[in-house]
Amino acid sequence: MYDLIVRRARIADERCDIGVQGGRIAAIAPEIPEAGAREVSAEGRMASAPFIESHIHLDTTLTAGEPKWNESGTLFEGIETWALRKASLTREDVMRRATRLLRWHAAQGVLHVRSHVDTTDPNLTAVKALLEVRETLKDLVDVQLVAFPQEGLLSYPNGVELLEEALRMGVDVVGAIPHYELTRDLGAESVKVAFRLAAQYDRPIDAHCDETDDPQSRFLEEMAAEAIRQGLGSRVTASHTTAFGSYDDAYAFKLMGFLRRAQINFVANPLVNITLQGRMDTYPKRRGLTRVKELWQNGLNVSLGYDDVMDPWYSLGTGNMLQPAHMAVHACQMTGRSEVMACYDMVTTNAARTLGIEERYGLAVGQPADFIIVDAEDKWDAIRRLAATTLVVKGGRVVAETTAARTTLLGEAVSFSRE
Ligand code: FE2
Repeated sequence: MYDLIVRRARIADERCDIGVQGGRIAAIAPEIPEAGAREVSAEGRMASAPFIESHIHLDTTLTAGEPKWNESGTLFEGIETWALRKASLTREDVMRRATRLLRWHAAQGVLHVRSHVDTTDPNLTAVKALLEVRETLKDLVDVQLVAFPQEGLLSYPNGVELLEEALRMGVDVVGAIPHYELTRDLGAESVKVAFRLAAQYDRPIDAHCDETDDPQSRFLEEMAAEAIRQGLGSRVTASHTTAFGSYDDAYAFKLMGFLRRAQINFVANPLVNITLQGRMDTYPKRRGLTRVKELWQNGLNVSLGYDDVMDPWYSLGTGNMLQPAHMAVHACQMTGRSEVMACYDMVTTNAARTLGIEERYGLAVGQPADFIIVDAEDKWDAIRRLAATTLVVKGGRVVAETTAARTTLLGEAVSFSRE
């Protein structure tokens, strides 16, 4: 007897039943003969491991327009606007907004979330609030927190001490923002400090790195060098690296060789960077994205994040991870059949590598029963249709259900599938 059976799911074009017992996936077979305490039909839709958000800011979410809108649309007006909003931050305020977005995540099948949390605040208000939210929602969403010095690790008063305090309080990952330090030397030094703290507190690293169109912003090479020296590889993540899209090809070629040696992870945020970057250009106007396709072709692990949902940097958003995947297909020209499929992997399996959770992630017998049903035939179709996640199973129980849209035209049902 299974606790739950999801019948008639589609996995790699095969019809499958998924049996769940004791919070784990106990069977995946064309047809499970036994009964389940609860049975649900997937109606032929695709089963998938859950979506993963590998880069979001839960402390800034749902503040767009407070106290003002970011009219220039630049990263820098975003940072200035956030500094104003931060002055009125309270624990309840952060908890309420973060909880709201995490519930949207869970409802849409996003069951693992890595969030940056600003540590450049003498009171560490957001850190305290998000640690509490991580605990409160742990049965619904698995949250990792990154100590992120938004206004500079070495350029903000007591930046290092505040970040260390956040680590001691239980924040999971060391962050940095080298391109926003006051000088290039401070930027390079901040990378070394982040690596030192990561060793001291035994934490992974995820730095906002080179989030600018300035081709002279070259802190990625500092991160790669430290990762190679210390043999840290998969424990290191470079987020954004948009300047990589502006480097000349000679330097980019040399750097790519170092990155292959370093084997660090990358997170691109195509929705936000296609809008934030390129703002100082007239025409031709750069896309402001890192070299997603080339990193992927070179065998490096790339995942995609949303970055912001309704905050000073991006006023739109719902947290649905198919949206950054869809944008990556376009903005990174990942339009080949295998490339579109790869964009789906970038919000699922690749993101699991970024978060270091591969061992407990995946739609396979023996894994935790965390999976989703998507109203699509395959990964390609899911991105094409920005398909709804109709069923979310977390820890062996159904936590969310969505009724897929049904359309009629002149009284006749319309299907958006190809056949
Ligand atoms: Fe970010």
